[in-house]
Parts: sequence; structure tokens; C-alpha cells
Amino acid sequence: IAAAPQPNAVGTVTAQVTAEPKEVTILYGSQTGNGHGLSKKLSKKLEETGLTVTLSSMSDFKPNNLKKLQNLLIIVSTHGEGEPPDNAIPFYEFLHSKRAPQVEQLQYSVLALGDTSYEFFCQTGKDFDKRLEELGGKRLTARVDCDVDFDESAAEWMNQVLSSLNEAGAGSNQTFNVSAIALSEDTESEYSRSNPFQAEILENLNLNGRGSDRETRHLEISLEGSNLQYEPGDSIGIYPENHPQLVDDLISVMNWNADEVVVVHKNGEARKLRDALLRHYEITVLTKPLIEQAAKLSGNEGLSKLLEPGHEQELRTYINERDLLDLVQDYGLQQLPASDFVSILRKIPARLYSISSSSKAFPDEVHITVRSVRYEAHGRQRYGVCSVQMAERLEAGDSLPVYIQHNPNFKLPENPDTPIIMIGPGTGVAPFRAFLGEREETGAEGKSWLFYGDQHFATDFLYQIEWQRWLKDGVLTRMDVAFSRDTDKKVYVQHRMLEKSKELYQWLQEGACVYVCGDEKKMAHDVHSALGTILEQEGSMSPEEAAEYLALMQQQKRYQRDVY
Ligand code: 2AM
Repeated sequence: IAAAPQPNAVGTVTAQVTAEPKEVTILYGSQTGNGHGLSKKLSKKLEETGLTVTLSSMSDFKPNNLKKLQNLLIIVSTHGEGEPPDNAIPFYEFLHSKRAPQVEQLQYSVLALGDTSYEFFCQTGKDFDKRLEELGGKRLTARVDCDVDFDESAAEWMNQVLSSLNEAGAGSNQTFNVSAIALSEDTESEYSRSNPFQAEILENLNLNGRGSDRETRHLEISLEGSNLQYEPGDSIGIYPENHPQLVDDLISVMNWNADEVVVVHKNGEARKLRDALLRHYEITVLTKPLIEQAAKLSGNEGLSKLLEPGHEQELRTYINERDLLDLVQDYGLQQLPASDFVSILRKIPARLYSISSSSKAFPDEVHITVRSVRYEAHGRQRYGVCSVQMAERLEAGDSLPVYIQHNPNFKLPENPDTPIIMIGPGTGVAPFRAFLGEREETGAEGKSWLFYGDQHFATDFLYQIEWQRWLKDGVLTRMDVAFSRDTDKKVYVQHRMLEKSKELYQWLQEGACVYVCGDEKKMAHDVHSALGTILEQEGSMSPEEAAEYLALMQQQKRYQRDVY
């Protein structure tokens, strides 16, 4: 079967479909819930065509069953620096180990989710695709790699998969049309990622005390009239506006006319340039495809050189540290017309924030906890797009386009008696305010333990009064705090965990679920090591046994992370 030409499809399609594929397995690996959402939609579509579908998280899949599968569809995102999402790790490791079986009987296809602003774009999807081929599997349709705005590419891939399986004689003879819009539809509400709800801001406060280095905004957002529903652990997606100063600087450096009308959507929708740059296009994040297109458009030699082999490190640093204004100034792209230039920009993606309220405690509201990102670099003040918009340009009464992003990978235990251990320094504490609010409202009796940290006790103790009240009422059983800059030597949450290793191990033995939220690169990594150390020390485990214990906990959803 030849795959119809499509821009994102990658790899040769080698499957000679002769058998009658009746059964299809969909495996998803997903951190924020996008992969899970897409796989549910795909499953429904496949079932409508008469196929028998098994839908499973990679973490629930018994890898030995791989030998028996006929058709396998993989939907997987890439996390951090090219890593698999947590719930994909065991299957990923199995597949790449010597234990992986040959799978000559298998037809498969991969949908890879990612972000072109990361160097290892869609790496996990690419790895699965390559590995299954090495093991003898045949591609049913070519892999598709999706950027953040994934709906259209994902819909194309699904249609390819549907028609391939159908050509194989599996289902009925209907034509397939999964539309991009349908993919992001939410079941409970008409509002979704592609059709966000204009939500009113009810409250916008700075949680940090005077004199703090930090500014952390607590926003209360109304969902009234939207029918949007969420559970603790879910996130809210917010479409931000770019900083007006940055937009104006860009327009002025480029000698553009702010009122020129430019296209903002494939369907021909147009806006005045200033509005398009404020609301529709991403101007703060560079990606390799963007630089490639800018090089092509301008014929600029310096840019072409940056893309040549041997300049990888330079390109990586440039992409990580710079924005569009730097690009046009540093490479002298001022002659490019606005209409051409905007055609190579990405649509501004929504920002996801872990919800810090329980909807049972605050019906029709979402609370979020957002640290303002401001720093100076390369001779200019830089601002986090969404966080600084909230800090500087949003008041009660204003509104924002929002949607709910469900996250099945960060959920309270089903059993209200199960003890929970929550580790969330800084704004990582947000979902735990939702967890405890929920446990209070539902009268859950399980024990709970919170590890929290930030720089200074006096100014940075987010939601201090609420934790204290919950401690007093017994909703929160224990709390340990680490204020890193109140003492000569830094103390972090993981130090507090190690100090309490006996009790912590005891809680694990009693079946406690562990939740980690916040910074991925440093904090979550160090907390993971601390958990390992605690298991070795208190459970007399070898490092390998401790790693296995944690992997098992992850598989059993007793160790969940919402890290970024
Ligand atoms: P610092 O800023 O003093 O380094 C929330 O941001 C808190 O997390 C701060 O107290 C911060 O400390 C701390 N933090 C920084 N790096 C960390 C790490 N590797 N592990 C745990 N906490 C960390």
C-alpha cells in the first residue's frame, strides 16, 4: 500500500496486507493526556468500522503479548530531551532490550507527538517506529510526526490508518473522514483546544510577600456557562497574548505597517498585522523548521551557514536562548515583507497549567498558580509570554481563551483510604491544593503528607494558611517544608524526605501513592534518586531492586509525576 503523499509522513511503507485484520491494538504513551485523548478517539473510529479494538496504556500492556499481535497502532509523545513519557518507559525499555521478540507477523504504525522547538523532536515515536521495523514488523502506514498544533496531522494519520485497515478487508466499505476539529472535541462541553471558552478572570493576586525575589500569581477563572468539567490533577490550557512591547519592537525593526492585513489561518481568515502578532503567531520561540524557512525566504548566507553540519551546538544554543526579534536583527532579515514572514510562523500554542482548585470546593471555577518569568539575556529584558501577561496585563473582569486538558496520569487514588505523599516545591504545589480540597469535600480518610519548599519562609510560603487549616482539620496529616535560602546550607524537599526516610518507607509499605509535581530537570530527578536511596536504606534493597520497586510503583500508578 502506498501512503498518500502528505507532508508529515515519514518512512517507507512495507506492509503487504493480505490477511484479514480483525483485531487492532492501540497503545498510548502520554504525559499530559494528549496521546490518551487521541487514542480514545481512534479507538472509537476503528470500532465503528467493525474492528475489535484493544486500547491500553503502554504501562498496562504485557510485552510478551507482542508476539501475538496482528495490528498495532502506537500513539506516543516525546518528553524533555527526547525521553519517553513515564507511562511508556517500561515498554520502551523492553522493546529496546534483548528480550524483545521478533514480530514478523505484526503490522504497525506510529503517531508521534512532539514540539519542533525541541532538538529531539518526536524522538520517542521515531525510536518505536525504527525498533519495530528492526524486529521484523511491517509498516501499515508511514509514521506521522506532529508539532504542538497536532490536530490536522493526527487526523491525516488516522484517516490513513483507517483506510489501510479497511483496504485489508477488515471493516465495512465506508469512506473515512476524521476531521481535525473532531479530534479536540470534549465530550462534556462544546469548548475544546480548537474552540476555547472565553473565561472571565475573577481574581488575580500575587501570593509572594513584599521583598521576595519571586512573583507568583493566583488566578481564579470562571468556567460558568461553559459546561467544562475537571478533576484534581487536570490542567487548564490558556492561549496567551504576546507582549505588546515585543510586537511593537518587531514591527518597527522590520519597518512593517501595523495595519497591514495578513492571513492568520489556512482558511483565509485575516487580521491586521499587530493583532496577528499579538494573538495568533508565536514570536518568542524559535524552531529549526522556522530557521530553515527563514533562510530559504531570505537567502541569507549567515542563516544557511547556521544550519550546516558542524554548527549543531551553535544552532541549539541560538534556538534555546533567542526569539524572533533577535533572529531578524542578528541576521539582517529586515527586508522581508510581513505577509511572507508570518506565513512561516507557528500558531501560538496554549500554555498548560496544573489546576490548583477542586471543583467540588469551587464549583464553576478554576484556580491556577503561576510564577512570573522575567530575566535579562543578551542585552534585553525577556518575559514569559503567559505568566507576564497574567502579572501585568490581566485584571478581574478581563477574559482569556481556555480549555481543559484532562490528565489521566496524575489522579488521586480511587480508594479514599489510600495514603498519599505529595512532593511539590514552588508552583509544583498547585495540584496538591486541588487534591486536598477534593479530599476535604469528599470526606476521604486516607493519610496525606506534603513536602513543600521554596526560597524564603517569610515571603514564599504559597497558600500557607490553607495548609495550616488542613493540618488542623486532619485533611493533611503531615507537612515538611524546605526553605532553601533561609539557612547557610541549601535544603530542598528531597533532604527533608531523606531525614524522614523511616516514616516515608513505612508509608510506602502501607501502600501510599507518591506524587511529584514541578521542575523536571533538577527537582524531579533528585527526588527520584532520594526515593531510591530511601528504599535501599530502609528496605535493604540493592540499587537495582530499588529501581525495580519504583518502576513497579509507576506501573501500578502508585508513583505519578506532573513535571515540566
Ligand atoms: P533555590 O532557588 O534556592 O535553589 C522552588 O523553586 C524551590 O525549589 C526553591 O527553594 C529552589 O531552591 C528549590 N530547588 C532548586 N533546585 C532544586 C533541586 N534540584 N531539588 C529540589 N529543590 C530545588
